[in-house]
Amino acid sequence: MISQALHKARKYEETMEANISAAERPEFHLSARVGWMNDPNGFSYYNGEYHLFYQYNPYDSVWGPMHWGHAVSKDLLHWNYLPAVLAPDSSFDKDGCFSGSSVELPDGRQLLMYTGVVKLPQPGGSFKEIQTQCIAVGDGSNYEKYDANPVLTEKDLPVGGSRYDFRDPKVWKEADGTYRCVVGNCTTQRDGRILLFKSTDGFHWEYNSILAANNGRFGKMWECPDFFELDGKHVLITSPQDMMPKGFEYHNGNGTLCLIGSYDKETGSFVEETDQSIDYGIDFYAPQTILTPDGRRIMIGWMQNWDTCNLRDPEQPWIGQMSLPREISIENGRLIQRPVHELENMRGTEVRYENVVITDTIRLDGIHGRKIDMEISIRPGDEKNMFRKFAVRFAQDDIYRTSVSFRPAESIIKVDRKFSGSRRAIIHQRRSLVNSTDGKLKLRIILDRFSAEIFVNDGEQVLTITFYTDLSADGISFYADGVAVIDVVKYDLI
Ligand code: FRU
Repeated sequence: MISQALHKARKYEETMEANISAAERPEFHLSARVGWMNDPNGFSYYNGEYHLFYQYNPYDSVWGPMHWGHAVSKDLLHWNYLPAVLAPDSSFDKDGCFSGSSVELPDGRQLLMYTGVVKLPQPGGSFKEIQTQCIAVGDGSNYEKYDANPVLTEKDLPVGGSRYDFRDPKVWKEADGTYRCVVGNCTTQRDGRILLFKSTDGFHWEYNSILAANNGRFGKMWECPDFFELDGKHVLITSPQDMMPKGFEYHNGNGTLCLIGSYDKETGSFVEETDQSIDYGIDFYAPQTILTPDGRRIMIGWMQNWDTCNLRDPEQPWIGQMSLPREISIENGRLIQRPVHELENMRGTEVRYENVVITDTIRLDGIHGRKIDMEISIRPGDEKNMFRKFAVRFAQDDIYRTSVSFRPAESIIKVDRKFSGSRRAIIHQRRSLVNSTDGKLKLRIILDRFSAEIFVNDGEQVLTITFYTDLSADGISFYADGVAVIDVVKYDLI
């Protein structure tokens, strides 16, 4: 049975999406069908296709009553919208169906596990949100909420856990057919931690252990955890709120964190070895992963961040995009990310230049566009007299440009969207340390109309930014202070 609230949302999205032309959207990044999108949810391969659900307020281009939107894809790049699947319509989630995940049941149905939010009035007229974990089961199109919801509540929290910050379950099936999930939580002092729960059937859950605890290191509340095995290690990813900067590794505000270590399945304990940021740009948050049928671990994130969402004018009919799906691995103890190889099937016309000497600003014939895949290898023209700066400017016309620049003496790369049409006093630049010796660096830049994802040194780092300039700003230019030499190959993506 579809509730009235869900029926209304489905009608609304179907009617209103007709006002948005394909050219107003990114081409191969999923954007909100109408209204507002945040976190990826329930990312899965189910019944022969990829499913991606998302935090969704169809009625307005600002965050609001959270629904789950839905889209499917055969190749992770071309998405078709399906009707929304969850609306905040039940006693246990009346103030929001927050983030969650999915798993396939032995009978072939798909189980969604998500956070139900109910506002609790406070003296003085304000509210606090009680968060519990809930379940819905369905067939890839329609989902029925479980009648014994919620399945995890404050009663299941370990000592000192806050019932106001208990959200974003990520569920998986173990080899023995039992289930586990990790959920973000914090102490009543708002110190983040990730809790591990277990279940024999996916419906009845019990507390297992505290998988990881912040102890004041990385921000406060830890949102949207994911936990999986990768290349012989175990990886915990989470998105901490209220970070303070640490060198060039972590920045202020909402960040992304990857902890690599080892896991003892019997006790449910995780021993951390290293930590790093997941994305070093501006617009990336709350990533979630899946294992594809051919064994790849693919990660997708919300290509936006809470502190920067007012970059886009809320008068627009949609706000919020997903990042490119990225294939992840661990190499030399670090998380490596590469665009899914399916992207190569979209490569059209190739334009290639080798050994181009750059001493000032130049343009290269045939190199322009807002839907491109471009690889650049940079090296010094004269090793004894190192260039001071190299830059690529794109989405450029007489007024606008977005850029990435590299200073070899400091091994620093910078993304800059200050001149990309923003009218808000928010962060527009971000710097990151890169691995570079002798002034050599490799960049792969993927543009899809309103975003740039810059993969450094074959995926050692990624810097993601969004910008919303007019599509006629499609110029690309190269600049060097000193003498830099580049090879460049550019493909239009079609
Ligand atoms: C992360 C987040 C989640 C929450 C959702 C609400 O971006 O804050 O913790 O479930 O967004 O929309």
